[in-house]
Amino acid sequence: MAHSSEGLTAGLQQAVPRGRSRLAPHVVDLRSDTVTRPCAAMRSAMARAAVGDDDYGEDPTVNELQHLAAGTLGMEEALFVPTATMANLIAVMCHCQRRGAQVILGRDSHLHVYEHGGIAQVAGVHSQALPDLPDGTFDLELLELTVREAHGSRYHPRPELVCLENTHSSAGGRVLPLAYLQQVRGLADRYGLQVHMDGARLMNAAVAQNIEPARITQHCDSVSLCFSKGLGAPAGAVLAGRKDFVAEAWRMRKLLGGGMRQAGVLAAAALVGLEHMGVTLQRDHDNAWCFAEGVQELNSPLCSVNLTAVETNIVMVNISGGCISPAELCEHLQAVSEEELATTGHAVSVLLFPWSAHTVRAVWHCDISAHDTELAKKKLEFVARKCQEKPTLGLHPTPPSARGA
Ligand SMILES: Cc1ncc(COP(=O)(O)O)c(C=O)c1O
Repeated sequence: MAHSSEGLTAGLQQAVPRGRSRLAPHVVDLRSDTVTRPCAAMRSAMARAAVGDDDYGEDPTVNELQHLAAGTLGMEEALFVPTATMANLIAVMCHCQRRGAQVILGRDSHLHVYEHGGIAQVAGVHSQALPDLPDGTFDLELLELTVREAHGSRYHPRPELVCLENTHSSAGGRVLPLAYLQQVRGLADRYGLQVHMDGARLMNAAVAQNIEPARITQHCDSVSLCFSKGLGAPAGAVLAGRKDFVAEAWRMRKLLGGGMRQAGVLAAAALVGLEHMGVTLQRDHDNAWCFAEGVQELNSPLCSVNLTAVETNIVMVNISGGCISPAELCEHLQAVSEEELATTGHAVSVLLFPWSAHTVRAVWHCDISAHDTELAKKKLEFVARKCQEKPTLGLHPTPPSARGA
């Protein structure tokens, strides 16, 4: 399913600074796994898809996807929705129906940071945000303390739901350990809480752990799964859970305007993504790992990677030494020059997100080949060498708003 990213080339050429050559760069877009474009097999499945009015439950392709997804996720039923953001919001709306309910979630979780506080704005739910540990888990003692303090207290909002994220995006695609999930489940049962998993990248976790996704989700009451990330589809997600939960979710989807009609054209692409996921996600991890090893082999004072943290398709590159900021590094990786062409034989524009004041994030996906990965490594090597030759670039902290999903 590998494609190059020619579509970006025109825009990037415009962005090449004055004094640099107007080369047509080869673009390696590692900003996110959301940038993929549907492959030929997907486009042909979309063109051929049998469709009907899904609002009447009559779209055979959506029904097939929902059935397959429910089985894969080990849940009774699943509901096709436009986005994972909507899947997460619906999950919270269904689990927390009392005013004053409280959701416990990670301070850096996508649900808390990037979903516009929908669970407050729309669902009227109160968030108790706990610090995410570097591996994407909560400190279980802190979790229990937080729940116990509020449990049965008339002075606290009622904790009703714990939201987990797996893989954990901000932690760098970390996979939540099964033993941890089991402990969260036990804790939730002791205090009568529900557990929702934001499994936008759940399949990356399943491939990394080499287990059926249902073994992960057995510890959860509901799970969302996104098709437009590692699975490469243009849009769509599912929310899965018990039959009565999904019946309620159907109503909430309607309320939010997420009920679609001939959505089978999108479901068809998602089915292709699910079919190929084993190969695709393993290759994404292999390429990510290869890049991470390449960074370490550079032995540069500028950048490094914690290899033990590279568990799936995301690599967090740590920037140190103070001679360049994450935003500056991203600018240098994006720009192309005659000098790069003369030195490396290539003109490669590598797109990454500055993630924090000290990190840059790179995400692998089905449009990035092993060759693209090699080119990205070479580009980083070239930039790192140039930065060491000119260590006066100055450190400008990266504004947090510069990052994306
Ligand atoms: C962990 C996680 N959850 C949810 C979402 C939301 O996905 P969507 O863009 O489909 O709304 C994202 C998007 O990047 C994500 O990374």
